[in-house]
Amino acid sequence: MRTIDWVDGAVELVDQTLLPDKLVTLRIHTVGELIEAIQRLAVRGAPALGVAGALGVVLADGDPGRIAALRAARPTAVNLAWGVDRAAAHLNGGREAVLAAALKVRDDDIAACRAMGERGADLLEGDRLRIMTVCNTGGLAAVERGTALGVVQTLHERGRLAEVLALETRPLLQGARLTTWELARMGAPHRLIADSAGPYLLAKGGVDAVLIGADRIAANGDTANKIGSYALALGAERAGVPFVVVAPESTIDQGTPSGEHIEIEDRGPGEIVTVRGVRVAPEGTQASNPAFDVTPHDLISAIVTEQRVIRP
Ligand code: MRU
Repeated sequence: MRTIDWVDGAVELVDQTLLPDKLVTLRIHTVGELIEAIQRLAVRGAPALGVAGALGVVLADGDPGRIAALRAARPTAVNLAWGVDRAAAHLNGGREAVLAAALKVRDDDIAACRAMGERGADLLEGDRLRIMTVCNTGGLAAVERGTALGVVQTLHERGRLAEVLALETRPLLQGARLTTWELARMGAPHRLIADSAGPYLLAKGGVDAVLIGADRIAANGDTANKIGSYALALGAERAGVPFVVVAPESTIDQGTPSGEHIEIEDRGPGEIVTVRGVRVAPEGTQASNPAFDVTPHDLISAIVTEQRVIRP
């Protein structure tokens, strides 16, 4: 199954807001619909956003205003702007050239995820590994297989996976809804844990590695990823557990010198005072909702891309 693709003249994508209850594919014909799908997280995850950005330029039919709006639909994952730029660079060649460039972004992502899976699995030592992860970095966050969860899948295929501990990932529950769904489909043993249990379980021992994805890696290695990643990095450092970032080269942003320059999306209070549409805080409660945090490079043991392993 592909999470996002170009089919018969339209973008097709899995509506991730409906999982795990329903597997529904949306057909998207306009940039406006695609921006709306990106902003409500029907399509999400840095590599998938890169492909959405590239395919969206085909839908934009050369309209610079629409292309700019698409590029800015979400600010933190650099892959979105990167994908838009990759396709938009071919606007002079006409629609067919833009489409070919966008399909190459899709195909490169598939190849990159497979390569990251192999390289990440090669990097980790041990036979029966217990992996902790946050958010969703699987096939749903890319076109196929994904980044950190792609490494998990490769470990599982090699018979080297003991268990995955998946953080539920409040407020939008990508871990509880999406990562568990993907792990169940691949037949990989897993347990869901509360976000706040992560550092405690690392301290208790028995976790072999933390594997996470990335939305933007600054030039100095500081890495923005789903909120909660920084707490896991601190817990991993204290427990002596390797903390490994798995992301394609397209997530590395040489134009951003360090983490403090990364724009962190704040998605507003609504997602915090409610859980799946049910209000859990008193009416009128103020809330802040940073969707990502930044892990300083000195807490990262290695960054695995499709081309290399970057160490501190
Ligand atoms: O808000 P989301 O669900 O788009 O956030 C996604 C993440 O933080 C992922 O960890 C990241 O994009 C890497 S996905 C392979």
